[in-house]
Amino acid sequence: MTHGLRGGMLMAGSNILIIDDYPQLVDFLEERLVAEGYHVTAASSGAHGLEIIGQGFAGVCLLDVRLPDIGGLDLFEEIKTLNPNIPVIFITAHATVDMAVEATRRGAFDFIAKGSDLLKRLNVSVKNAFELASMSEQLKTLKGQLSERGGFGRILTVSPKMNAILKTLDSVVNSGVTVLVEGDSGTGKELIARSIHESGSRKNGPFIAVNCAGIPETLLESEMFGYEKGAFTGANTRKQGRFEAADKGTLFLDEVGELPRSLQAKLLRVLQDHSFERVGGNETITVDVRIISATNRNLKEEVTAGNFREDLFYRLSVFPVRLPPLAARPEDIPILAQFFLQRYAKEEGKNLSGFDPTAMALLKGHPFPGNVRELENLVRHAVILAHDREITADDVRTTMGSHGVGGESSKPALDTEPGGLDDRLATLFPDADSLPTMRELQAAYLMHALSLAKGNVSRAARSLSVGRATMYRWMKGDIADD
Ligand SMILES: Nc1ncnc2c1ncn2[C@@H]1O[C@H](COP(=O)(O)OP(=O)(O)OP(=O)(O)O)[C@@H](O)[C@H]1O
Ligand SMILES: [Mg+2]
Repeated sequence: MTHGLRGGMLMAGSNILIIDDYPQLVDFLEERLVAEGYHVTAASSGAHGLEIIGQGFAGVCLLDVRLPDIGGLDLFEEIKTLNPNIPVIFITAHATVDMAVEATRRGAFDFIAKGSDLLKRLNVSVKNAFELASMSEQLKTLKGQLSERGGFGRILTVSPKMNAILKTLDSVVNSGVTVLVEGDSGTGKELIARSIHESGSRKNGPFIAVNCAGIPETLLESEMFGYEKGAFTGANTRKQGRFEAADKGTLFLDEVGELPRSLQAKLLRVLQDHSFERVGGNETITVDVRIISATNRNLKEEVTAGNFREDLFYRLSVFPVRLPPLAARPEDIPILAQFFLQRYAKEEGKNLSGFDPTAMALLKGHPFPGNVRELENLVRHAVILAHDREITADDVRTTMGSHGVGGESSKPALDTEPGGLDDRLATLFPDADSLPTMRELQAAYLMHALSLAKGNVSRAARSLSVGRATMYRWMKGDIADD
């Protein structure tokens, strides 16, 4: 987090409004909270409290459940209408579980019973509420700035290193120069490539991605360049390749370091004179394509090692950028975690406000070898696990365990042991012809999980470690399209 952002927030971040009609308690709380450095305003009725909020109060609200003029829950609804960003902490002498549940279900930040440890709990709760408020505000400010950044708006970052990179990229979005994005797995290379495309003058043209590592070498050439009818057995019609499909747009060559030598030459030619022939054809096709490529490797080293053509390397890396690993920009962890939390809480239909401080500390201390993607998966899992309004350290630990990183692993390494998933798959599908499509496989797997759970969707979802909403989406047939 940058100081600039934080600094701006502390202003609103120290105001507390106490709405309570019991003067002794108000005095007591006010004295203690002021001693903690907060700025406290008090209102002795619901109407007075609403007046203060209506005048633009920003901060955290402590609310007595029983007021002379209005019920706590009703007042809470009115506060939300006036300003949905005020975290409300209920304080009550008459705590009932039902009411606490109802209040938190409706979005109250916390519910504290008057009693001996009131002050201790209150201090923690108020601190968390301010942290949440500042985090949401920071996200909002950031999203505001981001939407002004156009296509780069989807890249969330407060890291000076990342911002410097985005700034340099600004200067090339409208040109056709080739960009090489280097970075470890999950650092956001594809996101950057798409953002360059969407911010620039080609944004109305197609963005076509080819994963050079994902397509068998024998198919890669015809995938990229297309083929003529009769070029090989099974080529019954002429087929357009990705280069033609990307005409007037951007071609994203992912994992370009894996491109076989034979195709490196052909690619070089396209870069030099924008033309090529389809497999089995003589006609020279000319295209207007901007190339952005990405690699996990250090491509320069691949050149030195003799695995990658030097001339091609220079053509591809007219404008090189190297994305720093997440561990080198830890200030992005909280903001990304909060962003993914909001996204997946919404998807799962859960009312989650954030991470408790220990959970966040765990995330901040995690090395994230899988970078942003690992963080995203981890948060998604933690959201599914979470039972409370906040993601707890336990949720994070459990997720880290099942992701096989840090923490105690709760599941055995399914895939590598003898008799493990690898072995079982090999028995089921001994050759390429026996492979079902991803869609068929997932549908069958889903049915299997559901029947083991005797049709209980929640249980099936739990055993597959996905949320119920995801489960329902899959059941509607919306699968294998991620
Ligand atoms: N700064 C960011 N803001 C928001 N989301 C991000 C950011 N960086 C990465 N992501 C998200 O993290 C995930 C991984 O990013 P992406 O696929 O671009 O990484 P990658 O470098 O291409 O990974 P790989 O090398 O494994 O292919 C995506 O879901 C992406 O949207
Ligand atoms: Mg990628």
